[in-house]
Order: sequence, then C-alpha cells, then structure tokens
Amino acid sequence: MSKSLQAIRGMNDILPEQTPLWRYFEGTVARLLDNYGYKQIRMPIVEFTELFKRSIGEVTDIVEKEMYTFEDRNGDSLTLRPEGTAACVRAVLEHGITGGGQVQKLWYIGPMFRHERPQKGRYRQFHQIGLEVFNLDGPDIDAELIIMTWRLWGELGIRDAVKLELNSLGTSESRGRYREALVEYLSARHDKLDEDSQRRLKTNPLRVLDTKNADTQAVLVDAPKMADYLDDESRAHFEGLKARLDAVGIPYVFNPKLVRGLDYYSKTVFEWVTDKLGAQGTVCAGGRYDGLVEQMGGKPTPGVGFAMGIERLVLMLETLEQIPQEISRQVDVYLCAFGEEAELAGLALAERVRDELPNLRLQVNAGAGSFKSQFKKADKSGALYALILGDDEMAQQVVGFKPLRGQGEQQSIAWDALAAHLATCVVQG
Ligand code: HAM
Repeated sequence: MSKSLQAIRGMNDILPEQTPLWRYFEGTVARLLDNYGYKQIRMPIVEFTELFKRSIGEVTDIVEKEMYTFEDRNGDSLTLRPEGTAACVRAVLEHGITGGGQVQKLWYIGPMFRHERPQKGRYRQFHQIGLEVFNLDGPDIDAELIIMTWRLWGELGIRDAVKLELNSLGTSESRGRYREALVEYLSARHDKLDEDSQRRLKTNPLRVLDTKNADTQAVLVDAPKMADYLDDESRAHFEGLKARLDAVGIPYVFNPKLVRGLDYYSKTVFEWVTDKLGAQGTVCAGGRYDGLVEQMGGKPTPGVGFAMGIERLVLMLETLEQIPQEISRQVDVYLCAFGEEAELAGLALAERVRDELPNLRLQVNAGAGSFKSQFKKADKSGALYALILGDDEMAQQVVGFKPLRGQGEQQSIAWDALAAHLATCVVQG
C-alpha cells in the first residue's frame, strides 16, 4: 500500500480482536470511578496552543518538541492535546464549576498526541483515562486517588507487578528555595554535567534530577536534597499522605528524584511503575497542582489528579495473562435458518426473543448458505448454542437447540418457549 494510505507511524488501529480487552479495561475503570463518586467530563481534542504552553510549561519536552501544532483556516495556532489536565482546568474555569470552592471530582478518557519516538508502550496517539479533583487541599484526597488505583490493580490482577513511587515537590515557595540551592550547587560543577543537563540548568533545573546520564548522576549524589527544603506545610501534607497509605496497607517507595515532566506540580507527585513492559514502565502518574488554576487566570483553587496509559495497561494484562475468559466470547446464541420461509420466521423469532431478553447476544446468520457453512459460522462465532430452523422445525413450529460446546444433545424447543429456555441456560452480561 502506498505510504500516504497507511496509518501514521505511532498511531495505531485497535482491531476487533483487541477491542474486547480494551472495553473490559475501560469498563472496569469506569465502574470503579462511578463507585468512588467521580463524574465524567468530555473536552475537545484540539485546543489553542497557548493553553498547553502556559500550563505544561514552555521548557518541557512536551511543549518544546512533542506537540502536534498547526494553524487553522482562521490563522489560529491549535494543538492536538498532549494530555488532559490543561483542557480540564480550562473547562472548569470556562464554565465556572469550581467557583466558590465547589468540589469537583472529574474523570475523562480519550486519545492524546505526542510526537515521541515510537516504541513498545510509547506511541504518538495514545489513550489515557485521567482524573482531576478541584478544591480539596488535604492529603486525604491524594490518598484516595492512590487507594483507588491500588484497588484497580487488584481487580485487574496486576497488583504484584506494579510499584508506587512517591515524592513531594513542596509548595512553590519551598521549591523556589530548593531550586536556588540546586542551581548554586550545579553551577559550581557546570563542566561535569552532560550537555542536556547544562541546558536544563538554565531553563528547568529540577529536571536535571531525572537525568539518565551516569556522570551527571554522580554529580547529583551530594547535591542538596529536596526533602531538606520542604516547609512545614509540605512536610505535614506528605506525612499525612504516607500515614493514610500505611493505614490501608499500600506499599510505596520514596523517590527523591521523581520530578515529573510537566511543570505544574506542587507537593505530592507519584508514579506507578512496572518492570514488565521494558523501557516504558510508567503505567499511571500524577500529583498535586495547587498553583495551576490561578496561573491560568482563575481564583486560587487546589487541584490533584493523575492519568493512566490505556495501551500500557492493556499490554500488562496481556503480558501477565490476566484476561478474563468471558470477554473472549461475544456471541451467546447463533441462529441458522435454511430456506426463505425459515429465514423470515427466524428473523421474527429472533426479535421476539430480543424483546424478552434484551441482554442476550443473539446473532442471526446473514448470507444464507448450506447447513455445513452456517454451522461452521456458528461455531466460529464462539456462541454457546446454535438455533436451527429448517423444513422439519418449520412444520412443527419448533427450533432445534444445539449446544456447541459439548453440553448435551440437541433438543427441540417450541417457539413460544424459546426465550424462557434461553434465559435458563445463558448467563446474560
Ligand atoms: P504523564 O506522565 O505525561 O502525565 O502521562 C500519564 C500516563 O500516560 C503515563 O504514565 C503513561 O502511562 C501514559 N503515556 C504518556 N505518554 C505516552 C505515550 N507516548 N504512549 C503511551 N502512553 C503514554 C499526564 O499526562 C498528566 N496530565 C497526568 C495528571 C493528571 N497529573 C495530574 N492530573
């Protein structure tokens, strides 16, 4: 196929054989979020470029080199959203739904776009489920976010394969004091830093902390520690979070180098990481951003949230073989009809059954075909039972009921009794 007719590198089709697992994952998360009292919000996929520059930060990798930015026909600079927090903050401000201290517990799902180098677990169009909470400033809500994800990992059967890393970046005041100390220390050792870190030292010094360069890492060993610069408020918040995680029994690792790649964070930051996916090991990440709403023109409004990468979590389920059996079967019953008269009767019968059993997954054969070919299709569909309508069945106003997965012999069921019979043998989702 010519290149221009192929999907763009790093942007994937999710094929019908993959969607059951995606829907299972998304459904599990949506149910959990409902149960904890979160409400869904849907934002546009495209926003003004300025929104992301102002919130994520001008000197982050995302804004500097990963955004899909273009001019529309009005000459406005627009960007495909690289993440959801900025747009969510814009939406709550625009609609005034966080005014007067109103608490909002929101979640969203959808595609995000970053021009990164594609590899396993890292794509240019990827999907996140994210959530954002506004107007709650205590560690209790930070803890709730983490507890909820812990429950999710449990339900999905991947709890043993993920690890929680935690850090506190402190209030903007304490972070400012730390930044000064770090810049002073690193500037005195400027020549020992790698080129990228030398640049970051000028633009975004905290990001030097998560360098992968071994020489710079060696310089950082004796650098001032963020934890020593936390003010009382930040310290109490962090201790409060840890106490709650301890109370629920959630293990965590304190990672003083965890700074995150977006500029809006303050106080709590966290990442759930796994070693099961190779290099792209962060499956869920977030933190507190108490200054962001104000920075974007709103009243001071505390915020906290996270986002998880759906591709990475689906990969985890596949890698760890945590795929529930029932999701692979998408058809309960397959109806085969032979001859025109039987086809018409079959259609009407199927609709009567659907009236009574709206959750039954009933597939009616389309495209006619011989007994053999229809049966083959019934078997391939994964259905538990085939319903058969031929001349004999038509004459007696019955339907042949044939178990396809070895649960007994074929029987004849009267048309009027079919729905009741199906209700007893098919567990409906
Ligand atoms: P983030 O760390 O940039 O945070 O992304 C969150 C998650 O999205 C990552 O942990 C990863 O699972 C997934 N992800 C990110 N980039 C890619 C990619 N190129 N391919 C596949 N998956 C990816 C945020 O986006 C923040 N908005 C999270 C947040 C919400 N913080 C507060 N509220």
